[in-house]
Amino acid sequence: MRQVRVALGDRSYTIHIGAGLAANASLLADALPALKILVVSNNTVAPLYANFLLELLRAMGRKVHLFELPDGEAFKDVTHIQGIYDALIRHDMDRHSCILALGGGVVGDMAGFAAATYQRGIAFVQMPTTLLAQVDSSVGGKTGVNHPLGKNMIGAFKQPASVIIDISFLRSLPDREFCSGLAEVIKYALIRDRDFLVWLEEHMDRMIARDPQILEEAIARSCQHKAEVVINDELEQGERAFLNFGHTFGHAIETFTGYNTWLHGEAVAAGMYLAASFSSALYGLSKDKVARIKTLLEQARLPIQPPTQMASEDFLNIMRHDKKVKDGRIRLILLPELGRADVLAVDEPVIKNQLDQIMVGQDA
Ligand code: NAD
Ligand code: GLY
Repeated sequence: MRQVRVALGDRSYTIHIGAGLAANASLLADALPALKILVVSNNTVAPLYANFLLELLRAMGRKVHLFELPDGEAFKDVTHIQGIYDALIRHDMDRHSCILALGGGVVGDMAGFAAATYQRGIAFVQMPTTLLAQVDSSVGGKTGVNHPLGKNMIGAFKQPASVIIDISFLRSLPDREFCSGLAEVIKYALIRDRDFLVWLEEHMDRMIARDPQILEEAIARSCQHKAEVVINDELEQGERAFLNFGHTFGHAIETFTGYNTWLHGEAVAAGMYLAASFSSALYGLSKDKVARIKTLLEQARLPIQPPTQMASEDFLNIMRHDKKVKDGRIRLILLPELGRADVLAVDEPVIKNQLDQIMVGQDA
């Protein structure tokens, strides 16, 4: 088992990473000291994994109940948070009770938001079951839901009490969801760690084959990066924005396509390749390095081209509402070098011109 510490004073916690951890009774006993626990999951993950977890926790003397959300980003809203509150109250959960989030990023974000707000805040533990959630969303305390007018618009910072990453959960994850998570792994290498980039280039085939040793290493290195960024800048006043590399373009793709065609990591992958091309034009990142990024994304079976029906104006119309916009200027996360990120305010005509050039290249 690997451990990564997120050192945040009295909100510090440990990320535990390994195979079979969800069945490790002593780890669960330490991570979940509360007598009453509400397991929040969804109707895909719960039938696979909730029963054995409930039985194990009950055998340890805990009073445990299960609440299932419907599966999907479409249900990540305040209406469905109400269902979690109903379950908490119905099962007499008090301020010393705990929520256990068992699922991907949608379940984790929603369970975390319910924990942040129920009785002004109760403890929650993340048990992420997708690669994306294991390397990104379960760590760092961003919780929340979507609003019809924007993604993740309602939320709170609420750090989990601990994160239990059982890589055995990944065995049942569909290929497309698995590859979507790889985009966030590649992101850490591109923005922070050139050695990790070389390691990923060498090991991507074994990652795709879900070799447990390789997965554990990649997840631990990703969590270490996320932990360092969150420790330095918990509330995103600076460096944490670098975790948004590829996301400004990616969110535009997700929004344009209505959140039902492209998975988050797929849109981020195409967004990272666009950001790499911008880095070449605006920061002089060499063409060879941009080509390396393209090859790695393709090795990870991720898309690199945005939807063909999307014009530069479509990108700009959405990017104008990005959370990083400051004084009316769009700010992009770019790569001056492989393994190093920076933020640059770029004028709209420059973005349009650059996107038009890339789209023309795409048509050719
Ligand atoms: P998801 O939660 O929708 O899970 C993807 C699919 O896989 C779902 O159908 C789910 O039911 C299924 N699934 C989950 N685990 C499984 C398993 N082990 N076996 C089989 N199927 C399984 O999507 P995601 O990619 O995990 O998360 C995306 C969400 O995370 C988005 O809402 C995004 O906004 C959020 N997010 C949050 C942060 C953060 O810092 N809080 C960071 C990145 C993304
Ligand atoms: N996933 C981006 C962040 O946690 O800041």
